[in-house]
Amino acid sequence: MKNIIHAALISAGAITLSIQPLMAEARDFRLGLITPANHIWTQSAQAFGDALKQETNGEHSVTVFPSSQLGNEAQMVQQLQTGALDMAFLSIAEVSNRVPDFGALYAPYLVDNIDQAAALLQSETATKMLDQLPGSLGVVGIGYGMAGLRQVLSRDPIDNASDLKGKKIRITPFEPIRDFYNAIGAAPTPLPLPAVYDALANGQVDAIDMDFDSILILKFYEQANNLMISNHMMFPMVGVVSGRVWKTLSNEDKALIRSNMKDQLDGIIGRFQDQEKYQEKEMRNLDITITEGNADDFSDAIKVWEETWSRKSKMLPELRAAAAKIKNM
Ligand code: BEZ
Repeated sequence: MKNIIHAALISAGAITLSIQPLMAEARDFRLGLITPANHIWTQSAQAFGDALKQETNGEHSVTVFPSSQLGNEAQMVQQLQTGALDMAFLSIAEVSNRVPDFGALYAPYLVDNIDQAAALLQSETATKMLDQLPGSLGVVGIGYGMAGLRQVLSRDPIDNASDLKGKKIRITPFEPIRDFYNAIGAAPTPLPLPAVYDALANGQVDAIDMDFDSILILKFYEQANNLMISNHMMFPMVGVVSGRVWKTLSNEDKALIRSNMKDQLDGIIGRFQDQEKYQEKEMRNLDITITEGNADDFSDAIKVWEETWSRKSKMLPELRAAAAKIKNM
């Protein structure tokens, strides 16, 4: 009898041992991003973590590192490549520095308004671009988010594009926006988001390239009170998982991460669509001078930009065609 029980225990142990590798490993994923705690991207990253925790009954969780705590986007991409960082919400800025095809998403006046930006980023054309990311950047792209359309906020009055000539204008550090302002004749000055308020306050820059949301939540209008509503560019973001980390996940975990992160990214797009209209009103109600700019005002710079980027990005014509379809809908 003793022998039978012993044999039974051994075989139960063998079953436990053989099952163990198939069981999902509990994980606390690290997700980095550059936006501050009160930004929609950061709130949505947090909500993604909460949803993942709930759906896995607490087995998986996500610790969010906002405000570039883990470094700038270039450094976070390196960490994603080695697997030191699990996930990130990255602006397309750094992605386009490394995979120039993505620079086409910053074509000036690719879209006319925030709803068109949402439709383009959720189109098949933009979605299929994400297939390039595992091979070229070592990350899996789950989907796009975005911030608001780009505007120009300046210390001096600006009536048209030529008023920007020779002005030091803060840009997010990436090539397509640099090329745009160079083509205008401005002096683009790359600065990360956390450095912008002080740079405006101490006169390091004359103007900034920014969206309504960031101008309002980070109070940049306190340091510069002339706004050109130009809507000249989209500002896409992508939710990514390290390719190295992805390989270690079970199919079930991959599906859970994919669906929960995608829900949040779609939610970000929806929130920017909703708030863009009332944030524009809020800006117009501030004690600042407002002017307006459109594609005609920037036509010379757009021509130069197109010449440069049609060489760098093979996706540019396809994206322009997809955007034209959306504009005609
Ligand atoms: C910026 O660098 O301007 C920026 C980055 C992330 C979200 C919004 C703005």
